[in-house]
Amino acid sequence: MQQPLVSIVMGSKSDWETMEHAVKTLEGLGVSCEVRVLSAHRTPEALREYIESAEGRGVEVFIAGAGGAAHLAGVIASQTLRPVLGVPMESKLIGLDSLLSMVQMPAGVPVGTLAIGKAGAINAALLATAILANKYPHYRDALRAYREAQARAILEHPDPRD
Ligand code: RP5
Repeated sequence: MQQPLVSIVMGSKSDWETMEHAVKTLEGLGVSCEVRVLSAHRTPEALREYIESAEGRGVEVFIAGAGGAAHLAGVIASQTLRPVLGVPMESKLIGLDSLLSMVQMPAGVPVGTLAIGKAGAINAALLATAILANKYPHYRDALRAYREAQARAILEHPDPRD
């Protein structure tokens, strides 16, 4: 297996249903990733150790999925200089709690926050790939092919009744 360039961390196994869309999207683009359930409040020490070891293994972008008081992405961002992308989970408050917790980082430690739920998970994977493409140009080709396939899927079935 290729060295993982992206790390996907989620605060709970209950986030997997959403975050697996990020994994599938990265796999479709040929970007290797590793996936962990680690929590900023339930396993703080293990999270700290993991971030350090992931950087040591060559991880270049972190994606964090969390819900509720969703501080996971901010805590990861506080411990790394690599880009951190956040995916707010749909939650008891339809995800607005997760979104606002994640997006309202005070100035100084940024988290690139995506949309709530599945769309955010897919876009986090696409954005992580675009970041990597600045250094590894073949990922730009993968992104181009992804967009072309997306356009084809629409244009080949323009009538929604089909
Ligand atoms: C957050 O709390 C997790 O990211 C999850 O979205 C939410 C609920 O976790 P569980 O109670 O389902 O484990 O830390």
